[in-house]
Amino acid sequence: MTMPSIAAQVDIALGERSYPIVIGTGLLGDAVVSQRARAGSQALIVTNTTVGPLYADQLARALGARHGAVRVLELPDGEQFKHWETLNLIFDELLAHGADRKTVLYALGGGVVGDMTGFAAACYMRGVPFIQVPTTLLAQVDSSVGGKTAINHPLGKNMIGAFYQPQVVVCDLDVLKTLPPRELSAGLAEVIKYGPIADMAFLDWIEANVEALRACEPAALAHAVRRSCEIKAHVVGQDERESGLRAILNFGHTFGHAIEAGMGYGAWLHGEAVGAGMVMAAELSRELGLVDAAFVQRLTALIARAGLPTRGAVIDPVDNAGRYLELMRVDKKAEAGAIRFVVIDGPGRAAVRAAPDALVRQVIDRCT
Ligand code: NAD
Ligand code: GLY
Repeated sequence: MTMPSIAAQVDIALGERSYPIVIGTGLLGDAVVSQRARAGSQALIVTNTTVGPLYADQLARALGARHGAVRVLELPDGEQFKHWETLNLIFDELLAHGADRKTVLYALGGGVVGDMTGFAAACYMRGVPFIQVPTTLLAQVDSSVGGKTAINHPLGKNMIGAFYQPQVVVCDLDVLKTLPPRELSAGLAEVIKYGPIADMAFLDWIEANVEALRACEPAALAHAVRRSCEIKAHVVGQDERESGLRAILNFGHTFGHAIEAGMGYGAWLHGEAVGAGMVMAAELSRELGLVDAAFVQRLTALIARAGLPTRGAVIDPVDNAGRYLELMRVDKKAEAGAIRFVVIDGPGRAAVRAAPDALVRQVIDRCT
């Protein structure tokens, strides 16, 4: 077992809802995980059938000293299970074991487990504490941070949910060693996202280190997780509930969510859909005269080097662009049926814009 070592701490500043993101190695078996949990309270580790057998015992042992009772619930694994029925399994478990409002939920897994556990914590008895222990790169750089929790609906991705902040986020880089390469690439999509929207120097760094990241080199992963969390913390600290600025974190997601819903949840990984979605959003930005072709080519090349698709999926053989538009009108950024896109309006700067359907159709046709 690795000795615990903290490489960095990033703080999310949200007044009384502030919390730390602790990044390091050997943290899963360490007391840092439960540092903010009330001593003696019950604990429920929510995980899935893949991550549970790998890491739940280690985490449960670390929690034993702080919590009276620690139970583990394994959910079915996959985006296709991110729905009401699976969420209800968490409530069933809590109620069956008499969980009270001091019970702490630990989300041990990727974004699917994190989003569902956070939503369950927001709802159970109108809110119980929860702690994020993200085990995918995507969850460490994005989904575990910032308090968005949700489940999917057949008509739209992440449409049912709540803003509910965790007490702490613990990113143990060791767990990424067991992540399949395809999942690591999916996480890189959300890492890459931070460059064009906020920090071109970080984009330069990712270009120089993408092979090291794909090879799971610890120093490269530590930097990518820390810098991604810093950028996200800065944005969320200014706009927790996405009344404006926070929408920029959804660069590539409007197209991406349409791919996920259109293909059927789980067919494309979330990060894969975001990868192709970023190419489409960059191309739309170019069509709107905001960036040049060289910028789009640069971003597309990096997305490809990260092992991600750069062309969107065909989600309808008859009217592909029409189906994209239909699904994108359900997006949370849409206003009165008008789709609003996150575009790049200069290197390292993002904005939210509407665009004519005809132009969006052209972009979809060109990029799928
Ligand atoms: P995921 O949760 O499905 O995990 C990916 C796969 O990796 C799963 O099969 C999982 O069991 C497995 N896995 C997880 N950790 C592992 C490990 N250490 N070793 C081996 N296997 C492991 O997918 P994800 O990419 O982590 O998350 C995607 C989800 O996150 C989507 O539902 C998306 O909507 C959501 N998301 C939410 C936010 C937010 O702000 N809340 C942001 C981005 C994405
Ligand atoms: N992943 C987008 C957000 O947290 O706002």
